[in-house]
Amino acid sequence: MAEAPFGLLAELTHRCPLQCGYCSNPLELVRRDAELSTEDWRRVFDQARALGALQIHLSGGEPLLRPDLPELVAHANSLGCYVNLVTSGVGLSRDRLRSLASVGVDHVQLSLQDATRSGNDRIAGIKAFDRKVEAASFVLDEGLPLTVNTVLHRQNLDNIAGIIAMAEQMGAERLELANTQYYGWALRNRAVLLPTRAQLAVADPIVAAAQDRLRGRMEIVYVIADYHEAHPKPCMYGWGARQLTVAPNGDVLPCPAATVISSLEIENVRDSSLHEIWHHSPSFNAFRGFEWMQDPCRSCPRKEIDFGGCRCQAFQLTGDAAATDPVCSLSPARSTVDLILETEMAPSEVPAMAMRKMR
Ligand code: SF4
Ligand code: FES
Repeated sequence: MAEAPFGLLAELTHRCPLQCGYCSNPLELVRRDAELSTEDWRRVFDQARALGALQIHLSGGEPLLRPDLPELVAHANSLGCYVNLVTSGVGLSRDRLRSLASVGVDHVQLSLQDATRSGNDRIAGIKAFDRKVEAASFVLDEGLPLTVNTVLHRQNLDNIAGIIAMAEQMGAERLELANTQYYGWALRNRAVLLPTRAQLAVADPIVAAAQDRLRGRMEIVYVIADYHEAHPKPCMYGWGARQLTVAPNGDVLPCPAATVISSLEIENVRDSSLHEIWHHSPSFNAFRGFEWMQDPCRSCPRKEIDFGGCRCQAFQLTGDAAATDPVCSLSPARSTVDLILETEMAPSEVPAMAMRKMR
C-alpha cells in the first residue's frame, strides 16, 4: 500500500480574473457548470482526511470566485486540516479575509507577477498590483502567515531583486520563486517565457545572496529553470507519493499537470473514492517506485534523488511518459531540449503572449 498523502490540492475552479500566460492550467479549462458542487467538495475533503491528508490547499483558478468558499474552509477546518488559501488577492477585501480566517483559513499564498505595477499588470492581463499589495496588508493585519509566490520567466527575471524586496515589504514569511514549468498555457507560451542563460546567470547569485541575508526572517524557495540544467527536478517528489490534486470537474490527478499525459486513464471522484484511486488506480500506480523506469534511469544512482524527473515533461517532449525526463543530460532525447533552447531564445523572434482565457 502507498503511504498516506500529506496534502490535497483542491482546484475549486478554473475561473480566474487574471490571464497569466504562464499558467499551468490546461488549455481546455473546466467551465463553471462542470465544477463539483459544495456537497461533492465536502465529500472529497472527508475522503482526503480519512486517507491521511492533513493539509488542504484551496486553489484554482481563483478560489475566491466560489461563493461557497467559507463553507468549504469551515468544513476542512472541522476535519482538523491545515487550510491554505492560494489566491491572486483580487477580490480579497479586509472583511472577506476576516470572515475566512474566522472559519479556519490558516495561511495565505498570494501570487505576485512582478515587482512593479506596470510589469505585474502587463503579465496578469488586468490591473491587479494595488489589490495584491492591499491583500498582503490584510493578511498581515489578520495575523496570518503569508507566502508570496512569483512565477519567473523571461519577462520578469531581470527584476528578481525588486521581487524579493517587494515580498519583504509585504511582510512575507516565505517567498517562492518558481521558474516556469512548461505545461498548459505556459507550454503554449514557451517561446515568450523561456529565460536566457544570461538572465539566469545574473538572477541565480542574487537569489543565493538574498537567501543568506534573509535566513531566519523570510525563507526563499527557488525552483530551477530545468531546461537549462543538467539534471531534472524531483517532480512531485515522486509520482503519487505526497500529494493528490482534484481538478474542478472532480478528476483526480497524481500531479496538477497530469491531464497532458493523454495515455493516462484518469478517474473521477464522482465514480470512485479517493481511497480507491490513491491506492489502486492505474493512474496513481503507473509511475510509483522504480520498477517502471527504463535505462538510463533504471541503473542510475540519482534515481532516488530525482525519480527520473517529470513524467508530464517526458510525455510532452518524447511521447513516452515512462522515458527519462529529456532535461537530463543522460537522456537520449536531451537534444530535443537543446534545440528548443537554441530556437526559442533568440530575443528578436519573441512572439506575443497568448493570455489565459476560457474559450
Ligand atoms: Fe535522474 Fe534518470 Fe537522469 Fe539519472 S538518468 S539523473 S535518474 S533523470
Ligand atoms: Fe506532472 Fe511533473 S508535472 S509529473
